[in-house]
Amino acid sequence: MCGIVGYIGNNDSKEILLRGLEKLEYRGYDSAGIAIMNDNGVHVFKEKGRIADLRSIVDQSVQAHTGIGHTRWATHGVPSQLNAHPHQSASSRFTLVHNGVIENYDLLKREYLQGVTLKSDTDTEVIVQIIELFMNDGLTVKEAFRKTLSLLKGSYALALLDEEDNETIYVAKNKSPLLVGLGDDFNVVASDAMAMLQVTNQFVELMDKEIVIVKKDEVTIETLSGDVMTRAPFTAELDASDIEKGTYPHYMLKEIDEQPLVIRRIVQKYQNEQGALTIDPEIINAMNETDRIYIIAAGTSYHAGLVGKQFIEKIANVPVEVHISSEFGYNIPLLSENPLFIFISQSGETADSRAVLVEIKEMGYKALTITNVPGSTLSREADYTLLLHAGPEIAVASTKAYTAQLAVLAILAEVTGKSRGIDLDFDLVHELGIAANAIEVLCDSKEEIEAIAREYLATTRNAFFIGRGIDFYVGLEGALKLKEISYIQAEGFAGGELKHGTIALIENGTPVIALATQESVNLSIRGNVKEVAARGANPCIISMKGLEMEEDRFVIPEVHSLLTPLISVIPMQLIAYYAALHRECDVDKPRNLAKSVTVE
Ligand code: G6P
Repeated sequence: MCGIVGYIGNNDSKEILLRGLEKLEYRGYDSAGIAIMNDNGVHVFKEKGRIADLRSIVDQSVQAHTGIGHTRWATHGVPSQLNAHPHQSASSRFTLVHNGVIENYDLLKREYLQGVTLKSDTDTEVIVQIIELFMNDGLTVKEAFRKTLSLLKGSYALALLDEEDNETIYVAKNKSPLLVGLGDDFNVVASDAMAMLQVTNQFVELMDKEIVIVKKDEVTIETLSGDVMTRAPFTAELDASDIEKGTYPHYMLKEIDEQPLVIRRIVQKYQNEQGALTIDPEIINAMNETDRIYIIAAGTSYHAGLVGKQFIEKIANVPVEVHISSEFGYNIPLLSENPLFIFISQSGETADSRAVLVEIKEMGYKALTITNVPGSTLSREADYTLLLHAGPEIAVASTKAYTAQLAVLAILAEVTGKSRGIDLDFDLVHELGIAANAIEVLCDSKEEIEAIAREYLATTRNAFFIGRGIDFYVGLEGALKLKEISYIQAEGFAGGELKHGTIALIENGTPVIALATQESVNLSIRGNVKEVAARGANPCIISMKGLEMEEDRFVIPEVHSLLTPLISVIPMQLIAYYAALHRECDVDKPRNLAKSVTVE
């Protein structure tokens, strides 16, 4: 979702900003813009569409050492050139980019901007107009910025230029992510370290409601009340090659192929010197002290949570509920006496999940975040963090983060179980190794899986995924992958539930992808397949070695029955990928979606 970059230094800022914005493309956006400032003033270039469209309208002859840039994912107002950021104040003295949502922008507009004609439909323009208004009332720019911030309700990351001072970028954030990057004789601003790795790997974290004055050789962080803060930078542990596609046509395919490596890396990271799996004892204490775990997550992470519940309940014997974050916040169930919250989030920035975290912290409960991004908001604000170590995930459709979440949840369950005297009847390290090998085998079966996508999904309007138990949860994820990137209307259903409604949707040729990896329900899911086939569906059974039958279309290698989701999801991911390719969709940047959803 919206991304921000900024540069102030001795070099021309245009290319640095544009390259930075390209690195933020993965977050999802529908328009983009930059503002660059030199002695002749501020020059704004913005365009609907892709960064490539923006690039084509930037006047290459303008040189400027200071600039800000933005990718916009529309919330207030349609995606258009007019609504794209940066936005300017009435006199054009101030130029602003914004990520987040200002909840009281309409109120502010009515209260402060009756006499101002706004050029866009955005909440952002309201902010920049009010800054100018306060400055016209006699405040300094910093004071006007500060006073405006104190009025804002909602989330924001902001970078502001003042045409009369091309030595400064004013920055602030609340709930939305924003970092300042440090260099020799230059400094940068970015929503994500990835955007500015091109020039530095030294970053300073910003806290909510601080005001940051960024100059080329100095960064000053102040609290809203004016106290100056000192904060040491951290080194972004990212390798530039992690965020390149290399020889792959799409990030998604690269990330699918990385999964065996990610599983092996996770096992290594969570092993002690003796080779036993280990987790911070404080986390294990929290797992043992609670009477019920509440997993809170969105999208793919929610689907990982459903499988995680099985792991934790079956392996560690702790009851677990799984909730969609956007629902939980407004509809808190009756909680147990001593709940522990586990937030699962690839990005660690999902606003819906963060809203729940803030609420349950206020209620005095403990929280653990399982995330791929160290230092992310959910990680910083929870009591504990477990990292996924999956490396940056760029494609909007989450793949390696899902399998990493499952692996970490399995490890958490195992270590908790062991601490409670429950010994597994299998060796998890060994079984995760087998799972990693099985994923490798599946990644080598791309031609076969592509053929399935071509046969079943090249032209269909809809598709259903069915399964029972843990296979149902993987079916939900398979359907989500398919709808996200191929725009086929895809839904996952519990096999036994079909006859209670969904079966009415089955028409001649409707693709039904059925998962059969569990011995206990193998015959019943096959019964469901017969029911849909009898009504004209085109079934595609994906089973596991040992349970396969003649009619099966694809058989995955055998792994421990509890760990099948790590494996059975791979054909789901690849089927979605190839279906999207066949339908000529933009695999890595699907329409309307954002990777990191920083608005509620
Ligand atoms: C967005 C992404 C999904 C992701 C979900 C939750 O909708 O497009 O791929 O699963 O957010 O994101 P999180 O970072 O919290 O896992």
